[in-house]
Amino acid sequence: MLFDDQQVEKLVGVETPFYYYDLTLLERTLDAAKNAADKRNFHIHYALKANFNDRILSIIQSKGFGADCVSGNEVQKSIDVGFDAGKITFAGVGKSDKEIIAALKYQIFAFNVESIQELEVINALAADLGEKANVSLRINPNVDAHTHHYITTGLDENKFGVPNSELEQAAAVLRSCEHVNLVGLHFHVGSQITDMNVFKSLCVKVNEWKSWFEERGTYIKVINVGGGLGVDYHAPDENPIPDFEAYFDVFDKFLDRNGQQEVHFELGRALVAQCGSLVSKVLYTKSGTKKHFLILDAGMTELMRPALYQAYHKIEKVGADQYAKTINYDVVGPICESSDCFGKEVPLPESKRGDLIAVRTAGAYGEVMASRYNLREEIRYIYSK
Ligand code: LLP
Repeated sequence: MLFDDQQVEKLVGVETPFYYYDLTLLERTLDAAKNAADKRNFHIHYALKANFNDRILSIIQSKGFGADCVSGNEVQKSIDVGFDAGKITFAGVGKSDKEIIAALKYQIFAFNVESIQELEVINALAADLGEKANVSLRINPNVDAHTHHYITTGLDENKFGVPNSELEQAAAVLRSCEHVNLVGLHFHVGSQITDMNVFKSLCVKVNEWKSWFEERGTYIKVINVGGGLGVDYHAPDENPIPDFEAYFDVFDKFLDRNGQQEVHFELGRALVAQCGSLVSKVLYTKSGTKKHFLILDAGMTELMRPALYQAYHKIEKVGADQYAKTINYDVVGPICESSDCFGKEVPLPESKRGDLIAVRTAGAYGEVMASRYNLREEIRYIYSK
């Protein structure tokens, strides 16, 4: 249950919908991740794309995490929030010249380069500025993440990374680029991965590619294995903090590295998903011959994941009465799209107009993917402390 009775009382009269962020849980999650990583001398760059809410970012920054960015604006945001430029990675298949130049000026930790052409462009722009760019080469490892196909990134058919067939050429281009310094290799196979065997397979591929470079006389200092650790969308109260120990253990065990080699991660979802919930009000209830509907004041404009990926989020009634009878509701939003549905046949205590409903595990890829479609209002949020 998200709120206790006292908290529920405080919510009376608060305008909905809003994102509710439990900052205590956020801190506990960050501490668990940081401790597990520090123990193994691993480095974490927080993937800003999961959530760039100012308050959340400043807490993450204050704990000493690096930042993983996918746009010039994310790089700028990280700098503004106080992330150390030396801990910023910049990824993405389509970095513009303007974005590359800005990041070069900040002397970020590394550009995760996704194609040979991009390598040449970074080299030329760095030469113009008299700079040397640190780059990691993103290799597409062709590992199946066994997750939703929209969030699988490491297969040959995906647009990400340098394909294996071009690596020989990429290595040659790297040798000829005087304004580029290869610091490492970068991989990322997908998101919401809960099967640790996927990460084990990734380690096997990383070892192969690392040896491939080393056999050609190229030393790899940084091995960046991306992000992707999943969270428990079904049981947020039972499993509020992902098992970071088990996750990092896989890499500790299966990744070959010598004393000098650094292992870096780009975690997003695992750090922020469980601390956020979308809280909404029932506007109307409706019963047809076959269906019962709860029509909420939040929709796909506030949380797009169910509409976009058929993603499951646990839905619960706030301050539920345990004696109320259970009804299977289709929980829908107000947007003029049939896909604007948070869940079908969701068993919930009988609800009425004005009741509060929480959609859980919405801290990652929730607020950041909100839109103004239907000219909806700007998203609001409340913090736990
Ligand atoms: N690194 C790279 C290169 C990535 O592409 C991503 C996510 C991450 C790190 C962070 O992955 P995480 O640790 O959060 O799984 N909007 C989708 C997820 C898209 C993920 C995109 N890339 C969703 O709502 O499920």
